[in-house]
Amino acid sequence: MVRLLDYHIAANKLRTTQIQNIKTETPTVKTFTFMDKLCAKAKPGQFLMLWVPGVDEIPLSILDVQKDGTVAVAVKRVGEATGALHNKQTGEIIGIRGPFGNGFTMKKGKVLMVAGGTGVFPLLFLSRKIKPKTARLVFIIGAKTREDLLFLDKIEKLCGRENVVASTEDGSYGIKCLASESLELLLCKERFDVIYTCGPELMMRKVLDSAEKHGTALEASLERLMRCAIGLCGSCVVGKYRVCRDGPVFNGQQLMEVRAEFGKSKRDFDGRKIPF
Ligand SMILES: Cc1cc2nc3c(=O)[nH]c(=O)nc-3n(C[C@H](O)[C@H](O)[C@H](O)COP(=O)(O)OP(=O)(O)OC[C@H]3O[C@@H](n4cnc5c(N)ncnc54)[C@H](O)[C@@H]3O)c2cc1C
Ligand code: FES
Repeated sequence: MVRLLDYHIAANKLRTTQIQNIKTETPTVKTFTFMDKLCAKAKPGQFLMLWVPGVDEIPLSILDVQKDGTVAVAVKRVGEATGALHNKQTGEIIGIRGPFGNGFTMKKGKVLMVAGGTGVFPLLFLSRKIKPKTARLVFIIGAKTREDLLFLDKIEKLCGRENVVASTEDGSYGIKCLASESLELLLCKERFDVIYTCGPELMMRKVLDSAEKHGTALEASLERLMRCAIGLCGSCVVGKYRVCRDGPVFNGQQLMEVRAEFGKSKRDFDGRKIPF
């Protein structure tokens, strides 16, 4: 118990580190690598808080870790902090807290990933770890346009092209439909032991409905506003859960308990409920 408490105290302590490498993936997404011994032990689905000095601290999923302490995160430029991070150079200082949250449970058998947009980041990390344990691994990936289908080449290399179902909303690549529609079609033809999903909450709500209909186990990683990341401030609340502390990964049963909110509304920085 004391050891666990020590671990949580250490994880929550801000460490500074230098950006080691920056890779431009698309015009709006860059991958950053840095050294951090604690986050290098993270499980797929866990996240960290990255401090951009003088700007803000933001939650990011862990994309990959190495035994030598290297950690990677992929960041989409959407606003002030992500924009400031995109402007940084190799060697500049950032701050890290974490890893936080529970992460995915590693299930065996026939596994299906359903990723939308930046939701692909934790699912790629999970796929790398889970692949040797699976009987079959199918990856459904959806995005608005071809450019938003992130890490498609890596996913195809890992899972095999025949096991990847790509879709875009504008039809610029793959099937012209939503990832949730590809999922429903596939589940009508084939049974899977578990679905892991991450992406826009409206998409994940549809994934939950399909999983329920076909009796398939589900784990979904939720994104909510986060400040403290340790269950204190209440920014990330969904029903009775705090996403930072009780999640960010929730199973189908937990999501059914909060179905009045899940995929329906979220809270803004003032705590007000706003519909999706
Ligand atoms: C558990 C978790 C994991 C995440 N993983 C990734 C990831 O791997 N890669 C990635 O690019 N993004 C990820 N995000 C989203 C990322 O945290 C936000 O895009 C980022 O905080 C936006 O900061 P900003 O200052 O650039 O944008 P702002 O100017 O503050 O706002 C732009 C948009 O980002 C949203 N946003 C702002 N602050 C937060 C916050 N603290 N938490 C969630 N959303 C916010 C706002 O609703 C707004 O729509 C994750 C979020 C969570 C909760
Ligand atoms: S971010 Fe503060 S309680 Fe979750």
